[in-house]
Amino acid sequence: RPGWPGILHAYGDRIPVPDGATVVTLHEGGTPLVESAHLSELTGCRVLLKVEGANPTGSFKDRGMTVAMTYALASGVRAVICASTGNTSASAAAYAARAGLTSAVLVPSGKIALGKLAQAVAHGARILQIDGNFDDCLELARKTSAEYPVTLVNSVNPVRLLGQKTAAWEICDVLGRAPDIHCLPVGNAGNITAYWQGYSDYAADGVVEGTPRMFGFQAAGAAPLVTGEPVSHPETIATAIRVGSPASWTGAVTARDESGGLFEAVTDEQILDAYRLLARREGIFVEPASATSVAGLLATSEDGRLPRGSVVVCTVTGHGLKDPDTALIGMSEVEPLPVSPGAVAHALELT
Ligand code: F0G
Repeated sequence: RPGWPGILHAYGDRIPVPDGATVVTLHEGGTPLVESAHLSELTGCRVLLKVEGANPTGSFKDRGMTVAMTYALASGVRAVICASTGNTSASAAAYAARAGLTSAVLVPSGKIALGKLAQAVAHGARILQIDGNFDDCLELARKTSAEYPVTLVNSVNPVRLLGQKTAAWEICDVLGRAPDIHCLPVGNAGNITAYWQGYSDYAADGVVEGTPRMFGFQAAGAAPLVTGEPVSHPETIATAIRVGSPASWTGAVTARDESGGLFEAVTDEQILDAYRLLARREGIFVEPASATSVAGLLATSEDGRLPRGSVVVCTVTGHGLKDPDTALIGMSEVEPLPVSPGAVAHALELT
């Protein structure tokens, strides 16, 4: 959007920053809310997609990171640290670069998508690949920040969630109302917690009437909120949400219970089907974890838990270019064609 100033300027009255702070921004937020004709037809609802891959580093994490980095800079600290399945680290690396701070990122070795790793490298982060999963990395980052002069910028830092509330506000501002249902992928559970707080703020202040039911979807191999138990060895192709012990567990359960929502698991196959549908039918390329919200939308539509006629928003959380390997599954080497219209026509079966 032309002139969009970033969330801290757009919603400055609702998000306090320290006195005299320099705002660290890449003009995040203000992302598209796109009508989905195909998903609306499949579900009998009005379905809209909140396209968070349109943020500066390609995921919703930027909304929280502008706030976290603004606070970190104002505090006089020199370095920030985070654990990540990839997107938080990409965002932290970019915003730290902009703020002139050093960033350290702890990531599960071999389990983060290539594009995200490339971003952390490009922005000059100190990348520490840990022989463990995301949950191990988060514990390590928490302990390090408690003992050494380095600020934790994971969503357990409460100001991160203040920033992430803005997506809910934007949706209400654009629609002129709250949706009936909001579908989200859930990993560490910060985002569903933040959305629920954002919707609750707007309802409490009378900006809109009512709040949506929050539908949170997890990958079947990493679904602690669905089973009610932490998962010690989470597994899914959607590496962004490969989380076994979500930090914002309580916030997520509150969101579900207060909103009359639900948690449900979807298989990797359902996630990949939704991933392909979004790219091929809607022209929206997201990373696999992001398609979890749409996989869940379709599953609850099929089993009757999604009331027809509802206004539904699905957040698609990160850009497809984050994970080129998944996009290229099944592609084999192809022989180049000669420079010949006939050969092109033959290859396209036009003859
Ligand atoms: N979608 C994407 C693309 C993500 O990167 C994440 C979380 C989520 C959904 C889930 O959000 O954790 O707030 O429930 N990624 C974190 C990270 C864990 O390190 O980048 P959540």
